[in-house]
Amino acid sequence: MRAAPAVRGGHRFLPEEPRVDIAVIGTGYVGLVTGAGLADFGNDVICVDIDVNKIEALRKGVIPIYEPGLDKIVSKNVAEGRLRFTTDLPDAIRSARAIFIAVGTPPRPDGSADLRFVEEVARQIAKHMNGPKLVITKSTVPIGTGRLIDEILHATGNGHKAAVVSNPEFLREGSAIEDFMKPDRVVIGASDPQSAEMMKEIYAPLHSLEIPFVVTNVESAELIKYAANGFLATKITFINEIAVICEEVGANVQDVALGMGLDTRIGPKFLQAGPGFGGSCFPKDTSAMADISRRHGYEFQIMEAVLRVNDDIKQRMVVKIVDALGGEVLGKTVAILGLAFKPETDDMRDSPTIPIIKGLQEKGATIRAYDPQAVANSKAIFDGVTYCEDPYETADGADALVIATEWNAFRALNLTRIKGALRKPVVIDLRNVYEPNRMRSEGFEYYSVGRSADGRKKV
Ligand code: UGA
Repeated sequence: MRAAPAVRGGHRFLPEEPRVDIAVIGTGYVGLVTGAGLADFGNDVICVDIDVNKIEALRKGVIPIYEPGLDKIVSKNVAEGRLRFTTDLPDAIRSARAIFIAVGTPPRPDGSADLRFVEEVARQIAKHMNGPKLVITKSTVPIGTGRLIDEILHATGNGHKAAVVSNPEFLREGSAIEDFMKPDRVVIGASDPQSAEMMKEIYAPLHSLEIPFVVTNVESAELIKYAANGFLATKITFINEIAVICEEVGANVQDVALGMGLDTRIGPKFLQAGPGFGGSCFPKDTSAMADISRRHGYEFQIMEAVLRVNDDIKQRMVVKIVDALGGEVLGKTVAILGLAFKPETDDMRDSPTIPIIKGLQEKGATIRAYDPQAVANSKAIFDGVTYCEDPYETADGADALVIATEWNAFRALNLTRIKGALRKPVVIDLRNVYEPNRMRSEGFEYYSVGRSADGRKKV
């Protein structure tokens, strides 16, 4: 299908003809954002999934995940003829010049990534390719996967040439569209200059925005992804441990983070102390990084420590809540605001709220909870949680209120209503959303993270 040229924001953005015929295999989070984004860059994109219901829904414009702006960019590119959905993998392989692999790489029990789906897609490409293909890994895959795909393509291929590229994604849930359209950098790991050139063509609109392109070999690109996520997870874990020290010595972690972050060598981002990192990426990738390292005979000690500390931090949050309730939660009700691992997503994967809520339940607490998006996904995870319609209903009759995810809606609570709804005016703010002095003057017993002489005492 050929797309008509379009004019956007006063700029002629698209070429007369689509840039590259692309297939994106896997319409999970990464695949769908990538497919829609690449179509918006002027490529002709077909997204493939084996899930018939999902593809049917996507064809009707129903987006299976909550991601701000994704629905608009999907419907626009479908309407303009650059984005299609199919379950017919062989046909998609044949029609494409460039094939992005964006299938899941779930963690195995030992922390390593399960490559079953990636390998199967590589076998399918080998079987159905009908001309030269560029095969690009978008899924986060262990170092060496590019080579493995290359071996599969050449061992089982039907004589056509295939080149493998690693093009890791750096999308954050909740701002994935913005991250795709205006990334800090594009990383291309290729084994020949022609492949790198085709990747640049695919991402051509980013050149005009002067986005840096890092062109390297496949292994380096694969490692960049793990190194970046591992470093960010370390940065968060570092500030979470600083927060522990702050509570002991009477310092304020937000001031410490500000003072550190203004050093341009450190930078201010990812220095917000909280209940530990979660989500589908940092926990999985830090543990895979440690595993990859072990397999190569080296113990990546910082990564191992980050994983251990992150688990400890979550348990510290349970202790913090129990202490705020006088050391005993048996028979008490705790209201939890926010369930998702971060705002603007419905994703519950590895959310810090899972060990926190389960830890409180084990100690005999009753849980009431509210999240603007993640309730449906939470229902499969928790037993015995009462889900409420808004923060005030959640607080109703509870012995304490916990702010677990910093949704914007929780930054502007009507504190008088919250206080009136709670049985006791106890607030444990695990995201440091509120100012301690203000909360005290409003009559709350207020606890937060790393902002008091003793985080377990009120501030
Ligand atoms: C992360 C990376 O930020 C993306 O660059 C990467 O592409 C993505 O993983 C991936 O590998 O696919 P994401 O998991 O969506 O993105 O979320 P983040 O915004 O990075 O947050 C991760 C966790 O760290 C959350 O639990 C968040 O609450 C926590 N966090 C983040 C903090 O506790 N403090 C901070 O200062 C920042």
